[in-house]
Amino acid sequence: MSALVLEDLRQRLPALLLKTDPADLQYYGRDWTRRWTPAPLAIALPASIEEVQGIVCWANANEIALVPSGGRTGLSGGAVAAQGELVVSTERLNKVLNFDPIDRTLTVQPGVPIEVLQNTAREHGLIYPVDFAARGSAAIGGSIATNAGGIRVVRYGNTREWIAGLKLVTGNGDLLDLNRGLIKNSSGYDLRHLVIGSEGTLGIVVEATVRLTEPPPLSNVMLLALPSFDGLMQVFAELRRRLSLSAFEFFTDIALKHVCAHGAQNPFREVHPYYVVTEFDAASEDQQSAVLSAFESLLEKGLVLDGVISQSDAQAAALWRLREGITESLAPHTPYKNDISVRVSAMPAFLAEAQSLLGEAYPHFEVVWFGHIGDGNLHINVLKPTELAMQAFVKDCEHVTELLAQVLHRHGGSISAEHGIGLVKKKYLGSTRSPAEIAVMRGIRQVLDPNGIMNPGKLMD
Ligand code: MLT
Ligand code: ZN
Repeated sequence: MSALVLEDLRQRLPALLLKTDPADLQYYGRDWTRRWTPAPLAIALPASIEEVQGIVCWANANEIALVPSGGRTGLSGGAVAAQGELVVSTERLNKVLNFDPIDRTLTVQPGVPIEVLQNTAREHGLIYPVDFAARGSAAIGGSIATNAGGIRVVRYGNTREWIAGLKLVTGNGDLLDLNRGLIKNSSGYDLRHLVIGSEGTLGIVVEATVRLTEPPPLSNVMLLALPSFDGLMQVFAELRRRLSLSAFEFFTDIALKHVCAHGAQNPFREVHPYYVVTEFDAASEDQQSAVLSAFESLLEKGLVLDGVISQSDAQAAALWRLREGITESLAPHTPYKNDISVRVSAMPAFLAEAQSLLGEAYPHFEVVWFGHIGDGNLHINVLKPTELAMQAFVKDCEHVTELLAQVLHRHGGSISAEHGIGLVKKKYLGSTRSPAEIAVMRGIRQVLDPNGIMNPGKLMD
């Protein structure tokens, strides 16, 4: 049966690159979640929009599910193919197509990695400001699919803010050219925004036009040590009032322990319970003295215990590494990842409840708190004890996630801030979205993908 359907695909699209080696099925069938065993039918690597459309027509005719696949750095299982799906990799759709200096946009194919996009923008004296640790591998198509956030959302917002237009091959095989780079376009529903964050369930993004902006003024990075979690939001408020922040990230001593075991350098002699990495404009003397007086005032109030300010680009990079290296340093412990958000104003009340819930719920597991606290986004990673089987570990963690989802619901938060729902958070969608909202989402999915071939089982059943 599978040989026959693949033969049909080969006949329809003779030039299409298809991979079926077991090693390729393993490699392309998974993302950074390690919970599912990859089992795709095959991997298709289209090189044109026409080939993508041809694949979608074939999938509809043969009732084969498609899993769109970029850099597969996702953390929610959105790009996992474990049910005989055809993986549609955008790896060969990796060209930068056009730079428009007047519109300040770059038009790219979906497989272009974020880092390439950033470097290309810089070559033109501009920046693409969405940034996160997986920049080297994550592709723009996948970052659109999850509305990726990252480390500079405090200043620049999420991916959504930077997508001026995109082309989508829908689950019907239609090609939609959405918004065409317009700044103003008040002509009905903005379908571009439906696609952003849709996790490959409405179609395959085959082109994107991203907005660029001017590089920021010279910046500095500061690492702060904090005595308590309670003061964290006060430190944020104080620094935001006095400085022009581009990032405000936090992590605990446990995160620091792991990242240093992975090669990062701790600049402090003493161990402190909480840390913040913050980045801010420091081009003028006024800005630099504002940093020092902000730091002194935090010290005086007892909100901060110690601090280091970068004196060079290399030092700034070393301080950033302490925060950006956390995910990689935790990966060997197959963490169960929570990626939650509340409004920044709701953070103190939410934190108080969440801390006591998780303290009681996870007494035997190592729990690592870190994340984009300035955006109201926390990553709470629970590490799997080596001797515990994966299934039992996930079951324990899911029980806690149910309780956490209730707390989030009470505080108006979200069960997924920036990683997406995928397979991992599907059960909890109802705690963040109302039944009426989910019904609308289903309706939209039905219109754009009537035969249910686009990433079935992801986001919702
Ligand atoms: C990060 O911000 O480092 C990742 O989004 C978080 C994670 O790995 O849980
Ligand atoms: Zn993150």
